[in-house]
Amino acid sequence: MCGIVGYIGDKNCVPILIEGLKRLEYRGYDSAGVGIINTTECKVVKTKGKVSELEKLVYAEKIQSSLGIGHTRWATHGEPSTINAHPHLNEEKTLFLIHNGIIENYLSLKKGLEKEGYKFNSETDTEVLAHLIDHYLKLKHSLFQAVRYALNEVEGTYGICVIYKGESDKIIAAKKGSPLVLGIGNNENFVASDVNALIAHTKQVVYLEDGEIAEIFKDHFTTKTISDETIIKEIFQVEMGIDEISKSGYPHFMLKEIMDQPESIFNSLRGRLVLDEGISKLGGLEGFEQRILDSKRILITACGTSWHAALVGEYMLEQYAGVPVEVEYASEFRYRNPIIDKDDTVIFISQSGETADTLAAMKEAKKKGALCIGVCNVVGSSIARESDAGVYIHAGPEIGVASTKAFTSQIAVLALITLLLARRKNLSLPEGQEIIAEMKKLTDKVGTILKQNDLIKEISEKYSNARNFLYLGRGYNFPVALEGALKLKEISYIHAEGYPAAEMKHGPIALIDDDMPVVFIATKDSVYDKVISNIQEVRARKGRILAIVNEGDTQIEKMVDHVIKVPKTHNMLTPILTVIPLQLIAYHIAVKKGLNVDQPRNLAKSVTVE
Ligand code: AGP
Ligand code: GLU
Repeated sequence: MCGIVGYIGDKNCVPILIEGLKRLEYRGYDSAGVGIINTTECKVVKTKGKVSELEKLVYAEKIQSSLGIGHTRWATHGEPSTINAHPHLNEEKTLFLIHNGIIENYLSLKKGLEKEGYKFNSETDTEVLAHLIDHYLKLKHSLFQAVRYALNEVEGTYGICVIYKGESDKIIAAKKGSPLVLGIGNNENFVASDVNALIAHTKQVVYLEDGEIAEIFKDHFTTKTISDETIIKEIFQVEMGIDEISKSGYPHFMLKEIMDQPESIFNSLRGRLVLDEGISKLGGLEGFEQRILDSKRILITACGTSWHAALVGEYMLEQYAGVPVEVEYASEFRYRNPIIDKDDTVIFISQSGETADTLAAMKEAKKKGALCIGVCNVVGSSIARESDAGVYIHAGPEIGVASTKAFTSQIAVLALITLLLARRKNLSLPEGQEIIAEMKKLTDKVGTILKQNDLIKEISEKYSNARNFLYLGRGYNFPVALEGALKLKEISYIHAEGYPAAEMKHGPIALIDDDMPVVFIATKDSVYDKVISNIQEVRARKGRILAIVNEGDTQIEKMVDHVIKVPKTHNMLTPILTVIPLQLIAYHIAVKKGLNVDQPRNLAKSVTVE
């Protein structure tokens, strides 16, 4: 998920690696490290925290080499710490490995290696791969073959670089599901997870594809598939200049993160769907399933966008798992002496895992003996560490203050939890399988919506002078209305309210005139006809209407000013699709107004104060 840089050539690699890691910093990370091999030493320097810290440590060591690899880690397995930082090594400290991604079967691989006598220093999945490669080296295979054999045993995703004292004329790089690109220089070659890290040195690049492995020497490289077929790669010329490339070419992190969603949702679901059994597999909840189902009720608590995801969770869990659910703001929960005990389960949702109110609510629930489950993005964060059990959403680092991809991944994970519990209760196998089939289509469906970005921009800009907005939806789309309104408030500073559509007539209807944009989220579900009546009510009062509808809907189109179409999906997954146009609307309106989208006034990414 985070950064990889590697160098082989005639120059000292240390400044090249540090500089490359700095260019990858925008992605967010929690620790960093470099490993070099030269004629006299094999050296690794790692640290928790920033690349600037690593830089000081590396320069203090005065190391020099023309072969080295560098990494920024965004922890998935094991807390952010110096020990868990990459590179990971073999016991002799002669083989260094850096890895982006997740090795899903690391526990079974680890057990096998432990039987052979391998010892592990870190909690990471990555270290298992370092020892597995070492195991094949000890069977007298070349480094290339050892890496290839090891990767054939790996389930999961990786972008890796490996260097080895015994064959110090090469870097081995391989990719599956995590990006990796080679940079071709003059008597020097590079490898990185992102062209940003090598563009200062070369514009000639080779993109590795999934299942490909490269042997990179200083003056040439060869590529094979991990099943040992030779492949000839094309060299591309990168057009972009060094100034344009931060944020992967996007003008803002928020837009990049919105556009990341096909991948981030895929990552949340990856390795967790068991189609044959129509159920999900969540390692972090193993052994807790029955206790959750036996709970008197489930409480979900969170703040802001995560609270909106909690509301979606309530609808799902009650409808499919048949467990009573209540949702509460963490800030309220913690101070009102809630009646909870050991027969309750409390789910805490937090992107950062550090939000002070949510953390304090967890402490309160723990004190009262409830089962505490964390649903977090940042691995090793306080909420993740202090919960009894939990599920990471694996959305990757979210940098823009306005949460976007974390929201859709939170909903994806809540759907996984629902599936897990519902299948143990009344949900039939075909129903479970249908949900999984729809989950698997999400990446493509999200992509279809993102392709309409130009249209959404054009429509949004027509509304950028509005001073107030109303967002209305029912059922699963009610929390989406709240989230759409929050996004707009946060970054465009336009006042916006979200309501269940039917509530409009109990008050907000008084606000409607020909100046008031109303955004309806009106997908084809059981309350579709009711929402149409609400649209008519706004129309009768001359409100301007923008509706999010399903593809193929021709009815609403005739009644409103603008429509944005989203594909149809399982009703429980609808919010994942309907929220995306709303994220883009907020983004384009804020940009049109010339505002600082990534760091809106007064807001912090992680609210660690009460
Ligand atoms: C979302 O756009 C906000 N910036 C904010 O509401 C956020 O969701 C809230 O502060 C909770 O953060 P957390 O998920 O990290 O706990
Ligand atoms: N899964 C690995 C770890 O937790 C790699 C994380 C990353 O992609 O940075 O160490």
